[in-house]
Amino acid sequence: MHASCTIFCLIGLVAIYGKPIEDETQENVDLRMPNVRPQTPDTYLCHPMKTDDTKYITGFVPHGESMIAHHILLYGCEEPGAADESVWNCGEMEAKEKSNDYPSAPVCKSGTKILYAWAMDAPKLNLPKDVGFKVGGDSAIKYLVVQVHYKNVEPFVAPNNQTDQSGLTLQTTTQQQPKEAGVYLLGTGGNIPAHSTVFMETACLYHEDMALHPFAFRTHAHTLGQVVSGYRVRDGEWTEIGRQSPQKPQMFYNVTRPGIRILPGDILAARCTMKNDLDHDVQIGSTQKDEMCNFYMMYYVDGKTLPQEDSCWSMGPPSWSFEDFDQGFMNLENLPKNISTDPNNNEVFHATRKMVQQTQNDVDRLREDMEDRFLQLLEEIGTVGQGGYDAPEFREYEGPGYQGYVEEGPGFKKVHEEWEEEY
Ligand SMILES: *[C@@H]1O[C@H](CO)[C@@H](O)[C@H](O)[C@H]1NC(C)=O
Ligand SMILES: *[C@@H]1O[C@H](CO)[C@@H](O)[C@H](O)[C@H]1NC(C)=O
Ligand SMILES: *[C@@H]1O[C@H](CO)[C@@H](O)[C@H](O)[C@H]1NC(C)=O
Repeated sequence: MHASCTIFCLIGLVAIYGKPIEDETQENVDLRMPNVRPQTPDTYLCHPMKTDDTKYITGFVPHGESMIAHHILLYGCEEPGAADESVWNCGEMEAKEKSNDYPSAPVCKSGTKILYAWAMDAPKLNLPKDVGFKVGGDSAIKYLVVQVHYKNVEPFVAPNNQTDQSGLTLQTTTQQQPKEAGVYLLGTGGNIPAHSTVFMETACLYHEDMALHPFAFRTHAHTLGQVVSGYRVRDGEWTEIGRQSPQKPQMFYNVTRPGIRILPGDILAARCTMKNDLDHDVQIGSTQKDEMCNFYMMYYVDGKTLPQEDSCWSMGPPSWSFEDFDQGFMNLENLPKNISTDPNNNEVFHATRKMVQQTQNDVDRLREDMEDRFLQLLEEIGTVGQGGYDAPEFREYEGPGYQGYVEEGPGFKKVHEEWEEEY
């Protein structure tokens, strides 16, 4: 009786527990800071993980407290910024100079891609069903790097001496997902004159032979950014993909209209509305003193091939605006009225400066001049332009390298003066 119970109970237990609760192709992978002790407020720390075999990331579980971490970003890199370090300081130049408790390096040395962003009080982002980010194997992502921006380091300095393990748990599977996820980046270079509000704009014709299904977007700018908005323009009709103030937590938000598709022949367009109350001009560049204008569109494709082009870059003001787009019908008269409206408080921003018609010759000369510099820059970093402008390797929060491409010159000053006219 006893013996048979033991046997039956064992069989029963095996029947209940013998079957794995989770598919064995699934694995939760921790990518968390290895007990770090940042000593300076506003330190950005990076921690890498090599991805050898092909995996698909299907979900992200953040581990962070908004009291400590201002944001957590997950990057995919072809090469990590520091080859032999477990932790490095991957902040912008200014912050790096202030703190030297960890060696400094960019997030990635090459192939930078942002895959996930968590920020203060931000709601969780779920990838849609059957969608995964392919990493490792023959994908362009050989390393994952988690970046934590430590706002408050009080718990970590003496005498508290605590250590931190902020980071992410990645839900992964080795099973190929039916829909592969990607991120498309729209951005500009350019200049924001003192005491002015300007629009920084970019647009590209999408011509690849596959539909993109955007499901989330993220905006990025520094302190001058008021509104960043992204659109699909089809037959002159503008449809919002996403619009947000970059002063809100810079994480991925749901697109404005779930189900929106980008098809070959559509135009992808974005505008950053920047307001500069400072006494000096601010340029797009890589330090906290510079600005950035970025709109990220997270999408999936039906299948396993991602489009070749994954960014759309323009030189920005004063050289380039929507009016200069010449690859299709943008229908600027149909520009959405709320393109520069902060969706949180409905504040509307108007540009206070615009190039005036009489200076067209100057503008042309300036544009040629800046194009030369821009193309030279692309050549230096090994990016080949085709069609519009391809993005220089994107280096959010990175120090050395890309410095923007707007320099003061005689032509430049003149156009600024002409710009004083309001409209
Ligand atoms: C905290 O760390 C500092 C140096 O990192 C050390 O001098 C100090 O003794 C530590 N304090 C405690 C309470 O462990
Ligand atoms: C975003 O969309 C997903 C799926 O469509 C939904 O479950 C989620 O609640 C949405 N999040 C917000 C903040 O609206
Ligand atoms: C923004 O404007 C467009 C048309 O200009 C309109 O279709 C859309 O509903 C507006 N969005 C909001 C949130 O008001």
